Amino acid sequence: MSALTNGSGPVPADAFAHPSKPHLEDDGTSAFENYKRLHAQSIKNPQEFWGSLARDLLTWSRDFDIVRRGSLERGDLSWFLGGELNACYNCVDRHAFANPDKVALIYEADEPEHGRVLTYDDLLREVCQLSYVLKDMGVKKGDTVAIYMPMVPEAIIALLACVRIGAVHSVIFAGFSSDSLRDRINDAKCKVVLTANESKRGGKTHAIKHIVDKALVECPAVTSVLVFKRTESEVQWIPGRDHWWQDVVKKWPAYIAPERMNAEDPLFLLYTSGSTGKPKGVLHSTGGYLVGAAATGKYVFDIHDTDSFFCGGDIGWITGHTYVVYAPLLLGVSTIVFEGSPMYPNPSRYWDIIDKHNVTHFYVAPTALRLLKKSGDQHVTGDRAHLRVLGSVGEPIAPEVWKWYFEVVGKGQAQIVDTYWQTETGSHVIAPLAGATPTKPGAASFPFFGIEPAILDAATGEEIDGANVEGVLAFKQAWPSMARTVWGAHDRYMDTYLRPFKGYYYTGDGASRDKDGFYWIGGRMDDIINVSGHRISTAEIEAALIEDFTVAEAAVVAVQDEITGQASVAFLTLKDHRAVTPEIRDELILQVRRTIGPFAAPKRIYVVDDLPKTRSGKIMRRVLRKILAGEEDQLGDTSTLSDPTVVERIIAAVKAGP
Ligand code: WT7
Repeated sequence: MSALTNGSGPVPADAFAHPSKPHLEDDGTSAFENYKRLHAQSIKNPQEFWGSLARDLLTWSRDFDIVRRGSLERGDLSWFLGGELNACYNCVDRHAFANPDKVALIYEADEPEHGRVLTYDDLLREVCQLSYVLKDMGVKKGDTVAIYMPMVPEAIIALLACVRIGAVHSVIFAGFSSDSLRDRINDAKCKVVLTANESKRGGKTHAIKHIVDKALVECPAVTSVLVFKRTESEVQWIPGRDHWWQDVVKKWPAYIAPERMNAEDPLFLLYTSGSTGKPKGVLHSTGGYLVGAAATGKYVFDIHDTDSFFCGGDIGWITGHTYVVYAPLLLGVSTIVFEGSPMYPNPSRYWDIIDKHNVTHFYVAPTALRLLKKSGDQHVTGDRAHLRVLGSVGEPIAPEVWKWYFEVVGKGQAQIVDTYWQTETGSHVIAPLAGATPTKPGAASFPFFGIEPAILDAATGEEIDGANVEGVLAFKQAWPSMARTVWGAHDRYMDTYLRPFKGYYYTGDGASRDKDGFYWIGGRMDDIINVSGHRISTAEIEAALIEDFTVAEAAVVAVQDEITGQASVAFLTLKDHRAVTPEIRDELILQVRRTIGPFAAPKRIYVVDDLPKTRSGKIMRRVLRKILAGEEDQLGDTSTLSDPTVVERIIAAVKAGP
């Protein structure tokens, strides 16, 4: 594409072939002008803007009376008050009535030859049957149900069945350990857990029911476990508590009426890492979240009726919630449920799926793109003729990866949307609108409707206006899909997001705004690291390490990694100054895998005789970061260290290797 290769200016949106007209295209004015006009309206008159979008995108069983109430300062926001709706009705019933044979879910199993397709009619029936099962297990409106499942259609059916009967789903990524699962089940007082006997990914099976069994030893409130039989393997069984999914669902009728929910009733909890040790149960409410999901699906991805949407994220993370399940189903299109890994059975898997199902939209984290780019362009086979939009999410996408995505994957025919958002924002907050706004490789670009970004000076909290500025990223206005609270810890919600800068939502990210008004996301300002697009708190890894009886002190910092973006490195001192052995090192890695999950394991562990600490005992992680980056000549002021000689010894330890 000439616009890209000729210079460094923005790529105009109309440089792309669009078989369907973008939603924002207008005969008189350009789509970009339309975006600017609508964005200005959404900021100036949010009530009118969101009120009409909410009525346009969703079906309400009772119309709302008030669009927005509350303020960022008080942290008491509510949206669409008086409105009643059901999330499942909006995702399933209305499409099943209008278009029963339309494909809703396309299941791509780990083995390419397996898999199946569910129409909207099939989906409605299966969701209703599961809804009865949940009710039979005693789940009531307002109860929270834990879901610990692989990426099979039944996982999506599980979410929808919960919200159909007014229950709140809490999905726990099936890569989390039994300890993490236990804590999340207990925090939300779940009585029912949905799982599978085993999961399959990349040709390997994982005994996930076994992990549930271990977790439940310390979850006294759980009375029922529903087990989807994914493989033929037998599992340990507790009669009365455990039930096979396939056995119980089929005896129930094919229809149950959806529960009428208030717009502000909780829709789901999703736990995410904070900068302190304990994960937060981020709570999203029904009306606002659904409006955000549908609006960004329509305008950022420019989803049209006949599209097939493929988001490679897992439902264990927010990306899977919003863009595997809610956005595509609210808009009534087909969504791919991919169980496998991008490398199995070979690095062409994604592109094969795209061709097989005429996928129009593909959405994945840069970490997968880096891996595939490294595997070689010869694997990027097929014509991908239907592909219109290529999305990126979860971490910054380096310009060379952006260009590879655009030129090699999209063959210059599809628009890249680098979408910036968070578990707490519910849906995209800064992102290009496909077909409407220009793009620059590496920039998340422009605010979505209703988002009023501000770049703040971290020290003074003053807003930094104008072009070519850098600071921390905050939002000046509330938007419908923002998280309402942290489950059971509203004060923590206030402290994390709304109190750092009064009157703003604080993202925790650094950002800059360039001369053309594009936003570029920097990195986290706190101790959260981003490994393969997954958010992990260094404090949580440290806490896991310190639980091991050999460890005296631990400091975890992030380093850049070619594939995973960032990776964690741990510096430890051992009790009684014992010497590290390969066994101890293995045990420590295992400790993190057991406590948090395999994905959180540190990449390297250095055992040292002391950590760099101030005289008051605070660990100076900055010093460790600089040493790892090979910038030991730029350590800054080390005179505040209680023992400055420790620096030399740590440098030597790093040079010697882990
Ligand atoms: C953090 C949120 C949102 C879905 C996946 C992650 C980082 C997210 C981008 C992007 C640069 C990004 C931020 C953010 N992040 N998207 N397009 N460019 N950084 O959700 O686990 O809640 O993490 O991911 O640091 O704060 P999450």
